[in-house]
Amino acid sequence: MTSELLQKARDLEARYGPRIPDSERPALHATPAIGWMNDPNGFSMYRGECHLFYQYHPYSNEWGPMHWGHLKTKDFIHWERLPAALAPDRDYDAAGCFSGGAAELPDGRQLLMYTGVRRIYDAEGFLQEIQTQCAAVGDGVNYEKAPNNPVLDDKDLPEGGSAIDFRDPKIWWEDGVLYAAIGNRTADGSGAVLLYRETGSLKWEFVRTLDASRCQYGKMWECPDFFPLDGRQVLITSPQDMDPVGLEFHAGNGTLCLIGDYAPQGGGFVRQYAQAIDYGLDFYAPQTLLAPDGRRIMIAWMQNWDTVGAKPGHCRWFGQMTLPRELAVKDGRLYQTPVRELENYRSGCVVHRNIPVSGEINLPGVQGRVLDMTVDVRPTGGELYRWFRIRVAKDGEHETIIRYRPSDGTVKIDRTRSGLPRDIVHTRSFLARPQGGKIKFRIILDRFSVEVFVNDGEQAASAVIYTRQEAEAITFEAGGSALMDVEKYSL
Ligand code: FRU
Repeated sequence: MTSELLQKARDLEARYGPRIPDSERPALHATPAIGWMNDPNGFSMYRGECHLFYQYHPYSNEWGPMHWGHLKTKDFIHWERLPAALAPDRDYDAAGCFSGGAAELPDGRQLLMYTGVRRIYDAEGFLQEIQTQCAAVGDGVNYEKAPNNPVLDDKDLPEGGSAIDFRDPKIWWEDGVLYAAIGNRTADGSGAVLLYRETGSLKWEFVRTLDASRCQYGKMWECPDFFPLDGRQVLITSPQDMDPVGLEFHAGNGTLCLIGDYAPQGGGFVRQYAQAIDYGLDFYAPQTLLAPDGRRIMIAWMQNWDTVGAKPGHCRWFGQMTLPRELAVKDGRLYQTPVRELENYRSGCVVHRNIPVSGEINLPGVQGRVLDMTVDVRPTGGELYRWFRIRVAKDGEHETIIRYRPSDGTVKIDRTRSGLPRDIVHTRSFLARPQGGKIKFRIILDRFSVEVFVNDGEQAASAVIYTRQEAEAITFEAGGSALMDVEKYSL
């Protein structure tokens, strides 16, 4: 039965969502039907299609009592809208249906696992959240919340685990068993990822702690995911309140990828490598799925809690997802590239090879705001160039700059003049692998974002921009002399 609250959200999005013109949305990135979007939820295959739910507040462009919005796609690029899937309409989730996962059940139904949040007054009279895990089962459009909700609560926590910060179940099948990885705050005030196993009839039991921050990588670990890839095991999570570490981790809400080995019957997960997932300004709460062809595909919220205050006035939608990205692990690093289906949307190939750059130049046919462009840069002559800049979304007043400086190996993304109306962080620098001055950028530009992939996916950096659409010039500039190839497609 559709509750009154869910019906109200469905009526609102059906009535007002289509009034937002397509030209005011990204061409290729998923956005909410109307109102606010945060984390991707339940990113998974169901009946041969990819479903994507999202944290959703349809009533304003601000975060509010969380619903689950719903999209699906056949090719990871073109999204079809479905009616909102969940509303906070029960006592146990009255303060929000927070993030979670989805999986297909053996009987053909779709299971959604989410965090139900309710508020209580604690002993000091302060409002406190209680977070429990809840289930809903449905047919890909309509869902019934389970009669035995919540299916996991404080009684299921390991010693010292917080019932206030216990959220974001990601679920998956492994050898016929349904598992859940769930974020939790530990007794030391930092975070951990807990593993649970379903034992039948949506009952769950605690298996082990997969890994914990021990105050090293931020506080509460939100939105975990755990999967095998290329012979290794990967644990991803989005820590709150991180301390900055060099150019690897920035302060605040960040992302963490731990790569290691997993012995399910033995010592569990043993991490070997730690890295940030995306080095840009807007990226949080990624979630992955296993595609039928074996690819591990990740999508994330292309925003950050520390930057969400900078939105265009009166926007009718706010929050978008990254492009889905194919993942690989090579030499202990996570690689990311846009899903290959993006290539089906390319047109108008423009190629320039062996172009000498010193000073600022533009190239015939290389401009636009919705495009896929690869720029290969290398030194020329005896001397290494000092820096190389690509400017996109440019007019007389605006530009978004991607800069490489070979002497210290830093790539910098700078969206200071990209239409954001607030004085927040607008630049981020990170390290690329030194290759004697050679570097390759793949830049995906959509109306309201730029995603940069360095050296075939060794690093990714994402940022939202709100530059006026007429700002579509692109220029290249070197300090010293460089040689470059450019291949550009419209999308
Ligand atoms: C992460 C997060 C999750 C939570 C959700 C609430 O961005 O804080 O931990 O479930 O957002 O909207």
